[in-house]
Amino acid sequence: MTASCEQPASVLAITSGKGGVGKTSIAANLAICMAASRKKVVLVDADISLGNLDIIMNINSKYNISHMVNGQKSIEEIIHTGPEGIEIICGASGLEGLANISEFQRHRLLTELSKLQNNSDAIIIDTAAGISRSVVGFCLAADHTLVVTTPEATAMTDAYAMIKVLVRNRFEGRISLIVNMADSQAEGKKVYQQVTNVARRFLDTDVYDAGVLVRDDRLSSAVRLRKPVVLAYPKSQITSSLVALAAKLSSGLAVEPNKEGFFKKVVDWFF
Ligand SMILES: Nc1ncnc2c1ncn2[C@@H]1O[C@H](COP(=O)(O)OP(=O)(O)OP(=O)(O)O)[C@@H](O)[C@H]1O
Ligand SMILES: [Mg+2]
Repeated sequence: MTASCEQPASVLAITSGKGGVGKTSIAANLAICMAASRKKVVLVDADISLGNLDIIMNINSKYNISHMVNGQKSIEEIIHTGPEGIEIICGASGLEGLANISEFQRHRLLTELSKLQNNSDAIIIDTAAGISRSVVGFCLAADHTLVVTTPEATAMTDAYAMIKVLVRNRFEGRISLIVNMADSQAEGKKVYQQVTNVARRFLDTDVYDAGVLVRDDRLSSAVRLRKPVVLAYPKSQITSSLVALAAKLSSGLAVEPNKEGFFKKVVDWFF
């Protein structure tokens, strides 16, 4: 595990209402871009039932948090090291399968997971799609939730539904929107404006602009190569956009990490 950092990592949850809009692709590439600028990054795959982070990152994710809580594995053994030294950990279905853990196990879970936050600069959570209790729990505990949409009407409606659930549950962090698979920057900007206008009008909430990623076939070709696009096509436009997104999220959109601790909130939510 990495050495201790000065302050706990800030936590970014990447989520969406509709499935298949690009959360995992964005999470994986963002993690690599942030790590390339000397940040210690932990990537949590909170969607291991359907998640394909292990495929993109070419790792074998046989063990998750449940094996750690049961005492079968240590935290070090459930962490996989990915490109640029990012640490990848499988979480959510592990948590959901742990309905009746003892007070001792709960304590172990918290102490071990808290080490992750104290020893890194950024934690990125790749959630499943939709407003299930598990997804919402991860987002509410994060410092910053990045909602992914595409220009499709159903994706936009579902992105708004996710924003609404976060606001109704009194999410204290920042909400940003990224428009993926746009035909052009102009189309993406229009989609951002539409969603943000409705959120301001009906929820009285500001949704920050995380930017636009255009549709690019290199993303799917990269998956076939079992490599994230920023490594498979380092000189492409989509890589430049992802690098810019990482810079924006690390600086301008960065927020102070919550003092209570991300994993404490997650554990409180689940147990
Ligand atoms: N900008 C893009 N241009 C072209 N293809 C893309 C783009 N972003 C994502 N894709 C492709 O869309 C598909 C779905 O992406 P991904 O798995 O990242 O979505 P997801 O939101 O994580 O899905 P799920 O909800 O199932 O977890 C993948 O095949 C991916 O390569
Ligand atoms: Mg996914």
